[in-house]
Amino acid sequence: MLSARTACPCIPMNRRILVFGFAALLPVLAITALAEAPADGSSGPGFPGMAMTKDDIAHGQKLYTRNCASCHGAKLEGQPNWKRRLPSGRMPAPPHDETGHTWHHSDRELFTMTKLGVEAIQPGYQSDMPGFAELLTDTEIRKILAFIKSTWPERQRAAQARLNESDKSRATRDRTLSTRRREP
Ligand code: HEC
Repeated sequence: MLSARTACPCIPMNRRILVFGFAALLPVLAITALAEAPADGSSGPGFPGMAMTKDDIAHGQKLYTRNCASCHGAKLEGQPNWKRRLPSGRMPAPPHDETGHTWHHSDRELFTMTKLGVEAIQPGYQSDMPGFAELLTDTEIRKILAFIKSTWPERQRAAQARLNESDKSRATRDRTLSTRRREP
């Protein structure tokens, strides 16, 4: 009955303001956290937004063999003379191991290029890399990329992890800018 007379008998007023103030903030924090979660899963443990198990990576390897090896090589070695432009003016398929430049791209870019093709991150760019949106699910793409990443030595993994960090802050900044732009 004590509680009927005083709304909150155990917490002094100044603390109550703190507690309620924080409680009022919670939805805001939750929304911010949701907004931070990248729609394309560009961060997180393992590969983009997904913790990867050994089985996921083994599955990724099978999917790689079926979908990517014909161009990027059974051992991720890429096409011969991959640094030399083809007569068509386009580039051959580069290796996905540490000798290539796959690790020069953030998770978000790798995911986008695999799903939609290279022109999705470089508008107007002509490329023989097909987008796999119709053939693979997002999860399958993530598993393949996790397999590719699992073959890199520590140095390449660490360098790519740093790219992911700067990509994340760039995405946040871009979002802030676009929010500002919408304001009158
Ligand atoms: C028909 C051949 C072909 C297949 C199949 C193919 N790729 Fe590619 N891929 C290419 C070519 C060619 C490039 C180089 C594009 C360019 O720079 O113009 C490329 C580039 C890429 C890149 C960018 C690499 C970089 O360092 O810039 C990624 C990532 C990639 N491929 C992932 C994949 C994945 C994952 C698969 C399988 C799901 C796959 N590719 C299947 C031909 C192919």
